[in-house]
Amino acid sequence: MSLRFILPLGIVLTLFAYAVVPLMDNLTVRWFVRDLDMRTQLVAGTLEEPLADYVSERSRKKITLLFDRVLRDERLYALAFCDPTGNVLYKTSTYPETVGCRMPPQNDSAEAQSHSSAPPSLVRLPQGAVHVGDSPVYREGQYLGKLILVHDMSFIERRSADTREYVILLFVALAIVISLLTVFIAHLSWRGWIKAVKDLLRGEINFSAKPDMPPDIQPLMGDLRALLYQVNMERQMQTDTPNSWNPDRLRALLHEELSGDEVLVVSNREPYIHTQSPNGIEVQRPASGLVTAVEPVMRACSGTWIAHGGGSADKLTVDKHDCVSVPPGNPSYTLRRVWLTKEEEQGYYYGFANEGLWPLCHIAHVRPVFRSTDWEQYVEVNRRFADAVIKEARTDNPVILVQDYHFALLPNMVRKALPKATIITFWHIPWPNPESFGILPWRKEILEGLLGSTILGFHTPFHCQNFIHTVDRYLEARIEHDASTISYCEKLTQVQAYPISIAWPESKQEESGEDICMEVRKELGLSANHLLGIGVDRLDYTKGIVERFQAIERLMELHPSMIGRFSFLQIAAPSRSSLEEYQNFEARVRTLARKINTRFGSAGYEPIILRTKHHEPEQINRYYRAANVCLVTSLHDGMNLVAKEFIASRDDDQGVLILSQFTGAARELPEALIVNPYHIEQGAAALYRALVMPEVEQRERMRCMRALVKEFNVYRWAGHMLMDAARLRRRERVTARIHAHGEHLRRVI
Ligand code: G6P
Repeated sequence: MSLRFILPLGIVLTLFAYAVVPLMDNLTVRWFVRDLDMRTQLVAGTLEEPLADYVSERSRKKITLLFDRVLRDERLYALAFCDPTGNVLYKTSTYPETVGCRMPPQNDSAEAQSHSSAPPSLVRLPQGAVHVGDSPVYREGQYLGKLILVHDMSFIERRSADTREYVILLFVALAIVISLLTVFIAHLSWRGWIKAVKDLLRGEINFSAKPDMPPDIQPLMGDLRALLYQVNMERQMQTDTPNSWNPDRLRALLHEELSGDEVLVVSNREPYIHTQSPNGIEVQRPASGLVTAVEPVMRACSGTWIAHGGGSADKLTVDKHDCVSVPPGNPSYTLRRVWLTKEEEQGYYYGFANEGLWPLCHIAHVRPVFRSTDWEQYVEVNRRFADAVIKEARTDNPVILVQDYHFALLPNMVRKALPKATIITFWHIPWPNPESFGILPWRKEILEGLLGSTILGFHTPFHCQNFIHTVDRYLEARIEHDASTISYCEKLTQVQAYPISIAWPESKQEESGEDICMEVRKELGLSANHLLGIGVDRLDYTKGIVERFQAIERLMELHPSMIGRFSFLQIAAPSRSSLEEYQNFEARVRTLARKINTRFGSAGYEPIILRTKHHEPEQINRYYRAANVCLVTSLHDGMNLVAKEFIASRDDDQGVLILSQFTGAARELPEALIVNPYHIEQGAAALYRALVMPEVEQRERMRCMRALVKEFNVYRWAGHMLMDAARLRRRERVTARIHAHGEHLRRVI
C-alpha cells in the first residue's frame, strides 16, 4: 500500500526537481528581460525631449532632478547619460561604475558576468543582477549621446522564487492527489480480488453469473480454487489419523480431484482367472502381489482393468467386447481381456519379461537372457495393450494405471495417442543400479517407454534413485534431483516412492484364533501345542525358499529339542513353470525338503510340509492365523505383501515375523526380526528366537506393526498417487492456460 503511495509521489517530485524547475526559471527570466527591454525604450522615449534640452543647456541640476524623479520608480535602479565619445557625463549616485558607457559584454568577464543562457542585457553585479538598456538621445536631428537605464532585477528573482514556491506547492498537492487516487483505485480492485477469492473459497462464485469478472481471470480463478483445495488435502494428509484412508475416501478423492475422469488399469496378470474344471468353470484369484494390492483399489474406483486373458475358460465368460464384470457375484468394475497367441505369450511374457527383465531387476544370481525374438514380441504385445487402452478410453484425458515390468513401452505408446492422459506407472519389482541395467540391449527403449508416464512409482526411495541414475547414465535428459523429476523430449515425469500395501480387513474375523489353531493343526496331523511356521510364496528363485529351508535344517542341528516339536508349512504356488529356471528351482526345493524331512522326520512327523499348489486367500489366511512364526526370506523383493498380510491376519496380536532385509517391507517394519537370508546361521538363530519369544514381546511387536500396516494401507498408496497425479494435471492445465494467455497477449500487442 505504502509503495503505491510513495512511487507516484516520488516520480512526480523527481520530474519536478530535474525538469520543471530549471525550465521555469529560464522562461521567467526571459519573459522579464523582454519586458524590461520594452520598458527601457518607453522610459527613454518619455525622457528624451527634456533630457536633450537639459543636456544642451548643460544644466546638471535639472538633469539630476529629472533623474531623481524618474528613480522613484522602484524597479529603476540607476540612470546615466554618456556623450558620443563614451564618457559618462551625468549619472545617479547608484549608477554602477563597472557598467560605464558600454553595453553589457557578450562574453563572460570578471565584473559583468553574463549567464550563458541569459540575454546579453542582463548583468550580474556583486549586489545582484541588473538589467542594462540604452537609448540614443537626439535634439533636432543631432546625436547628443545615449541614455543608459539600469533596472533592478532582484524583484524578478523574488518573484521567480515566489512563483517557484507556488508551483512546488501545486506539484506536491498534485502528487499527493495522484498518489491518493492510485492507492484508492488499487484498494478498490484489491478488495474486489479479496472478495472474489473469499466467495471462491466459500464456493459462492458462479462464473457464468459474474459478467463483471474479466474473462481472462475466470479460468485462473478455477485453478486457484483447485490449488487451494489441493493445499487443504495435503494438510489433511499430513494430519492423517490412523486408518483414515479407506475405500470411501479414495472414491471421494476420485470424484473431487479427478472428477469425471475414468480410471483404466493395465497389467499382465488378471485379477480373476476363469478355468475349466471337472466341476465346471471355476474362478481363481492368482498369487500375485500386484493383484492383491490393485484389486481393492479397483473395487473402490470402478473403471476398467485390461489384462491378459490366460485362463482356460476366460473366453467363455466374456461378452462380445471381451469384457466381464467382476468380482463375480458383486460386480464393481469391468475386466477387459486381451488374448495372446502362444508365440506372443512365449516371447513377451516368458521370454523378455521373465527370463530378461525379472532376473535383471532382482539381481538374485540368475543370469538374464535377452533374445531379439522375445524383444519383438514384447514390443508387439505392448502395442496391442496400448491399442486396447486407447480403445477403452472414453475421454482424451483418462487416468491410466500401468502395472509392472510387462509394460515398460506402453506409457510412451499411449502418450503419443492420448497426450492429455495421466499415466501412472508402478514398477512392482526392484530397479537395479545403472551398471546392472546397462547389460540390457534395449535399455534406451525401455527408459524412453517409461518416461511417457506422468508419474513413475517405485516401492522405495532407493529404487527411485537407481532409476534416476540409470536415466542419467543412458539418456540425455534433464533431471531435477530435488524435485525428483525427469524431463525428456519436453515431457516431465515425476519419479516417486509409493510403498504398496494391502487392504486392511474391515470386518472382524468370524472364527476365534484358538479355534483356527486347533483346526489347522488337526488338518496337518499335528498336536495341539505343536509349533508351526508358515511361508507363502510363488515358487520363484527370488523368494529365498532354499535359504529358508537351510535355516530350518540348521535350527534342527543347533536345537535338537525342536525336532518333533516344530514343523514348517511352505505354501508354494506354481509359477512360470514352463521356464527351465523355474523347473530347476522347484526341483531344488523339493529335493531339499525331502532331504530335511528324511534327516529329521519320523513316522507322522515332517519338519517341512511342502504344498506346491494354488491356495485361495481365505485358506492362506487360516494358516497365517494358526502359525507361530512367518518366514519372508526373499533374496530381493520390491515390497513383499505376504509380510503385511500375515500382520493383518493376526488380530490376536501374536505371532512373529521374520523378514529379509532385502525386501521393501523391511524398511517399514523394523519390529520384525530382520535377517540376511544368505546367512544361514542368522536365519536359524532368528527362527529359534521367534519360537521361544514370550507372548508379551510378540504382542508388543505385533501391535506396532499392525498399527503401521493399518494406517499405511493400499488405499493410501493409491490415494497418494492419484493426488499427485491430480496436482500434476492441474499444474499442466495452469501452465497451458498461462501459455495460451501469453500467446493471446503477444497477438494483441
Ligand atoms: C510379481 C510381479 C507381478 C506378478 C506376480 C506374479 O509380484 O510383480 O507383476 O503378477 O509376481 O507373477 P506372474 O508371472 O504369475 O503374474
